[in-house]
Amino acid sequence: MSLQLYSDYPLRRLNTFGFESYAQCFTRLETAGDVISLHRYVDEHRLPLLLIGGGSNLILGPKVPGVVAQVAIAGMELEALAGDAVRVTLGAGENWHGSIERLLEQGVYGLENLALIPGCAGAAPVQNIGAYGVEVKDRLEAVEVYDWQQRRFYWLDNAECRFAYRDSIFKHETDRYLITRVRFLLSRQPDCVLSYKPLRDAIEPGQEGNPRAIFDAVCRIRRAKLPDPTLLGNAGSFFKNPIVTAGQYQALRQRYPDMVAYPEGEEFKLAAGWLIDRQGWKGYRQEGVGVHEHQALVLVNYGEGNRQQIERLAERIQSDVLEQYGVQLEVEPRFYP
Ligand code: EPU
Repeated sequence: MSLQLYSDYPLRRLNTFGFESYAQCFTRLETAGDVISLHRYVDEHRLPLLLIGGGSNLILGPKVPGVVAQVAIAGMELEALAGDAVRVTLGAGENWHGSIERLLEQGVYGLENLALIPGCAGAAPVQNIGAYGVEVKDRLEAVEVYDWQQRRFYWLDNAECRFAYRDSIFKHETDRYLITRVRFLLSRQPDCVLSYKPLRDAIEPGQEGNPRAIFDAVCRIRRAKLPDPTLLGNAGSFFKNPIVTAGQYQALRQRYPDMVAYPEGEEFKLAAGWLIDRQGWKGYRQEGVGVHEHQALVLVNYGEGNRQQIERLAERIQSDVLEQYGVQLEVEPRFYP
């Protein structure tokens, strides 16, 4: 089995920020055999390895040493279970939004709230993507991985993935697992989640139980607020919404009565977009990058921006928010190298 390897490969179209970047070496993985060949290759040449999917949560420097491997494993399998339940297995390289749309067309529901999130199925569990009241962990059964240490493929069940808000085992053991397939438990019976108020408000009366109406509303809300990465480079929310203790929240609330926050167990999740917006950053431009004009949590590349510029802007926002509110904002996407 031989891998097709390309040197000095341009990555601009493989990262949604659209940063100019070149991989010393690039390859695409389409089968389990490719994964094993890649493992042998990087071992033999002692090369660093970066695995990517749709590149939608990644901030690249101008040169990426070693091998960049794009996981392009395809496939969608449906298995009818008892009642209306359906087990859906997606290859890691399947486009996320396209898969949700195909499932909807086949009458399989549960992922509508996660429509239009850029990237591939294999990346969804890494940061436990979430939007409009649903997180991937709510629908996920298991993740098939290739374990770089044990040199074998196996399934991790939902609990073993240690999901939390924008977090999983895959964010902590970055170099250990390559995700090859993701398995969901969905249903032919609609299970509509309308806990997020702006979504509920966007649904026509009488359509609350219609997954297609939810899918369409999510797409409308996202298009109105979030920049399309094919038109304006970005990686979605640039910072996580910070989680603070109830005490911290009460103290902030006294100073800022209109602050937006949501209970998160015993703690509170603050809307970082609100904190940044209130400091006047929305629409701010610095060098080739800036803060999106409709959503202060999203940093954008106006075309010729680069990683250093994004880092400089992010640091200014972080210190401003820290000084004003005493809250440290954590960057969400991954920087590499
Ligand atoms: N807000 C402002 N100004 C802004 C942005 C937001 O005041 O510029 C306020 C809004 O008024 C709103 C609150 O902040 O009341 C929350 O904003 P929004 O509903 O847009 O959600 P978010 O907290 O900014 C999170 C996720 C998004 C997800 C939405 C919807 C994170 C880091 N981000 O954003 O996920 O789509 O909720 O569920 O949790 C992503 O992770 O890349 C992402 C886009």
